[in-house]
Amino acid sequence: MAGIRWPPEDSDLFPARPAGATVTELISDDDRSVAADSWSIKSDYGSTLDDEQRHVDAAEVLSASNFPAASDYSSDKEEPDANEVEPSMLGLQSYWDATYAEDLVNFHEHGHAGEIWFGAEVMDVVVSWTKNLCANMSSAKDAAEGSSSNSESGETVGDLSTWSVLDVGTGNGLLLQELAKQGFSDLTGIDYSEAGIELAHNLAVRDGFSGINFVAADVLDAKLDRKYQLVMDKGTLDAIGLHPDGPVKRMMYWESVANMVASGGLLVITSCNSTKDELLQEVDNFNKRFGIQDQVQEGGTGPADVFRYVDHVRTFPTIIFGGVEGSRVSTVAFVRN
Ligand SMILES: C[S@@+](CC[C@H](N)C(=O)[O-])C[C@H]1O[C@@H](n2cnc3c(N)ncnc32)[C@H](O)[C@@H]1O
Repeated sequence: MAGIRWPPEDSDLFPARPAGATVTELISDDDRSVAADSWSIKSDYGSTLDDEQRHVDAAEVLSASNFPAASDYSSDKEEPDANEVEPSMLGLQSYWDATYAEDLVNFHEHGHAGEIWFGAEVMDVVVSWTKNLCANMSSAKDAAEGSSSNSESGETVGDLSTWSVLDVGTGNGLLLQELAKQGFSDLTGIDYSEAGIELAHNLAVRDGFSGINFVAADVLDAKLDRKYQLVMDKGTLDAIGLHPDGPVKRMMYWESVANMVASGGLLVITSCNSTKDELLQEVDNFNKRFGIQDQVQEGGTGPADVFRYVDHVRTFPTIIFGGVEGSRVSTVAFVRN
């Protein structure tokens, strides 16, 4: 399981954040009332019976697996394992509601867009890499079907406008704006923070992207009326993992997202808390769990993988930290079977 590895404080890749603090240290009643005061329309995407049942199911699976139990993250634990995730405010909706309420004020007063998580350079890499991946997949599909759309140079170019795109935990929605600039046109963003959704909508209208849809919804409990060929996640699984019940929430995340990606579609995750290999391991665990359920519930003959690794970004800038060279960010694409 991935551990939290926020980058060094002097990083210019990451926005300011509360360093090394846990939920119990940082979320006080005052913090909560600040969030409530500064954003009066409180989200009603609370717990539902379905959600609670899934939480119970996931917790049961966790207790029977190698994952650390949610209770292991209590603040009185003396020495957390190196791989453990320390819960933080960033795992709580109240934190994001307060953050985006403040960003909304800044937008109205100064026109500011708010943070670009992991920085503009990473976003550019993710967007152009994803565009190429989708274009190549479209071209391969066209070629297989014998219907190619040719550019003037005679090269086959995949048509990005046919891709339906969902950005989970979209925040200010800037990632969708960048995808729109690359030729994607069927774009939707969801976020459980209504203030975030209002900010994203305002920014999109201001910047000439009023066709992007934004919907307030919890990724873990979203009732979407369609599936998407491309689902993007930049920093959202990281945030979900920082909830005090992070390990359970992460399991719920995979189940939810599996229902959002169309068969043959892509899930592209960008994370600063999980390496590529850790994401692959987490997907492998999910595949095994889901496959077993399939077998039992549907009388199948054997577990089938839900997500299959496709590719990952190799071109992020690397740093040397603690004598180890590596990238702070990983982006991995999985195809939905
Ligand atoms: C690190 S920020 C990243 C925002 C955006 N993806 C970006 O790259 O700028 C994490 C986002 O996930 C959202 N989020 C966290 N948990 C969520 C959940 N369960 N459902 C919907 N959104 C969630 C937060 O509100 C926040 O906007």
